Amino acid sequence: MRPAENIAVEELTEGQARAELARLANAIARANRTYHTEDAPEISDAAYDALKRRNAAIESRFPRLKRADSPSDQIGATPSETFAKLRHAVRMLSLANAFDDADVTDFDARIRSFLNLPADAPLAYTAEPKIDGLSLSLRYENGDLIQAVTRGDGETGENVTQNARTIADIPQRLTSAPEILEVRGEVYMSHADFEALNVRQAEAGAKTFANPRNAAAGSLRQLDATITAARPLKFFAYAWGETSEPLATTQMGAVARLADLGFSTNPLTTLCNTPDEMLETYARIETQRADLGYDIDGVVYKVDDLALQARLGFRATTPRWAIAHKFPAELAWTRLEKIEIQVGRTGALSPVARLHPVTVGGVVVSNATLHNEDYIAGRDSKGAEIRDAKDIRIGDWVQVYRAGDVIPKIANVDLSRRPDSSQPYDFPTKCPECGSDAIREEGDSVRRCSGGLICPAQAVEKLKHFVSRAAFDIEGLGAKQVEMFFVDDLLPIREPADIFTLEARDAANPLQKLKNRDGWGETSATNLFRAIDEKRQIPLNRVIFALGIRHVGEVAAQDLARHYGNWAALTAAIDAARPAEQRHEQAETALRAERQTAQNEGRRARITETRNAVWEADPPLPQPAIEAWNDLIGIDGIGATLAVSLISAFHQPAERASIDRLAAHLRIEEVSRPATDGSLVAGKTVVFTGTLEKMTRAEAKARAEALGAKVAGSVSAKTDLLVAGPGAGSKAKKATELGVETIDEDAWLALIGAA
Ligand code: IVH
Repeated sequence: MRPAENIAVEELTEGQARAELARLANAIARANRTYHTEDAPEISDAAYDALKRRNAAIESRFPRLKRADSPSDQIGATPSETFAKLRHAVRMLSLANAFDDADVTDFDARIRSFLNLPADAPLAYTAEPKIDGLSLSLRYENGDLIQAVTRGDGETGENVTQNARTIADIPQRLTSAPEILEVRGEVYMSHADFEALNVRQAEAGAKTFANPRNAAAGSLRQLDATITAARPLKFFAYAWGETSEPLATTQMGAVARLADLGFSTNPLTTLCNTPDEMLETYARIETQRADLGYDIDGVVYKVDDLALQARLGFRATTPRWAIAHKFPAELAWTRLEKIEIQVGRTGALSPVARLHPVTVGGVVVSNATLHNEDYIAGRDSKGAEIRDAKDIRIGDWVQVYRAGDVIPKIANVDLSRRPDSSQPYDFPTKCPECGSDAIREEGDSVRRCSGGLICPAQAVEKLKHFVSRAAFDIEGLGAKQVEMFFVDDLLPIREPADIFTLEARDAANPLQKLKNRDGWGETSATNLFRAIDEKRQIPLNRVIFALGIRHVGEVAAQDLARHYGNWAALTAAIDAARPAEQRHEQAETALRAERQTAQNEGRRARITETRNAVWEADPPLPQPAIEAWNDLIGIDGIGATLAVSLISAFHQPAERASIDRLAAHLRIEEVSRPATDGSLVAGKTVVFTGTLEKMTRAEAKARAEALGAKVAGSVSAKTDLLVAGPGAGSKAKKATELGVETIDEDAWLALIGAA
């Protein structure tokens, strides 16, 4: 008879499994003793890992047989409390989404316009399933797998190398690979493996997973790699990061090369020559969806030619050359039990539908967004009817839809089932959290609490935003902890600066130390203080974004950081621009009044005159204010609305004081610019005008920014260079007046080394 130790885990009988677990417990205990206590190991690390993996796999198949002295519960060497963070050599991006056919044809049109390709020029795309898992970057040096890192925030992820080594689809060694090769793809779990895992988990009284994606994520992010080893994870390769030499000249070729190197690549990947072919492929993949045996949530299209991909480049968080075409949302009917109002960080009152729980596409949904009061009433932001003007009432039967990870929404209302007693929903005009007036400004679809920082809901939401991933991302201080500290009397966090005094305040309080509280201990408290310390030094763009100022998202924060370079310059510019910002607001008010009057009097509104009258009124605006304002709204991507919001926030006394208190605790780094070694235009402010003939305006701007230049929309004293094509008009004239150097497109291309 074969000894049980040579039998594959899947083939063991229960009796054999029990015997094997006993043998493994013994062998592992012996190995631990010889290694840790006697310093005289008898077996190799690899053999030891193999024993632990086999033990975990058997326990996972026969949870009831798990021994009281199971080696899985004993940790040979204490694993780190968390995964180490590693920075990606090349950022890991996400994808923009397309939801319908028009979005796909627009995608093609946008790319052609960016590259200045005529509508009939050949342009091929790949189409492949979008795998619903989690992305992973594998770094190989000289053919050896040396690192596996999760996506994280795109810049830094978690080091899960040991865990990735247990995934069969991930080769440990590559032959004839480039010296440096980062392979990227998706870790996922098949439907069959997911169901079997949940059965095992339930039998063992352990937590079950809501869907294969969560199961894959939970399995990969195990501190003990032997647990990952016992979980059946798979991997599809579809992209790459750093490479010491190109993999191919096309996307198709590169994916084929990855397959040659030993990776699993998706067999449904198809080359398409037209948007129609892309849509046909989408339809075909959609019909195959149910039979694939793993979850996909759409189709990804990528420009096939890698040289074109390089020209197209990236936006802040997504490539221009790819898009994810999502499968349509899934629908279900349920009853609306109540409507609750949540107050967000900018004071917006957001109505949320509390639903009788219903399963939509495999996920239980009990909340849906209702957007705003117009939406509930059956109107869109422009006053047009939606849902045939049917309003939404408490007690209604509503149709819920969810698309991928998007918040569920309400698609329809069944009036035939509406209770006779139902009443139209009365939207509150007072903030439900602080009682301040909730005001709806002209042209805004949202009603906002006017309480500012005195509103606890706004304050706590601002804090949650502050610690969120794209902002300060403080490990161990998430939304839950923020809520807890916000209401804590002994060690409160009421504003961002309080985070950075937490440790000192804790130290000053000999009783009631954080480490002695429920849910905390020595290690978690020390880790939190360390994680906070790590973020005292932080890039400028993250600080700007973290302030949670309305309209200032990640991209705008990045634009502002690039433009001003450092915190002192940013705040000085905001302060200098304040008087002009007030004029701008006065001018807008005057314009609204003028438009109204003109309409009443049946004449055309005098726009320029009205605006000029305000700007030129006494006392005259100081010139530096005008310059600072023009400089700010001249930043490409920053408009007057954002500028007003930014400047107002910095001039609201309580808010400014809170910002200054925060800044005093930080060492704010200049934003990291793209590598611009040898770039002659790094740090220069450039304006493009007239017709460019060799590349489109969008490509020129993207190129200039990649080389470290700032691209502005208008010429000012701060402009270093005007690139003027044929037909340049007022900007060229202004540049001459100001003595700004002006060159043509060819000279520009020569300057950036692209001629
Ligand atoms: S390409 C630079 N291809 O979708 C773009 N991504 O929503 C690299 N994903 O973060 C991504 N299947 O985790 C690409 N076939 C596929 C994909 C895919 C799934 C994931 C990936 C990405 C996310 C964006």
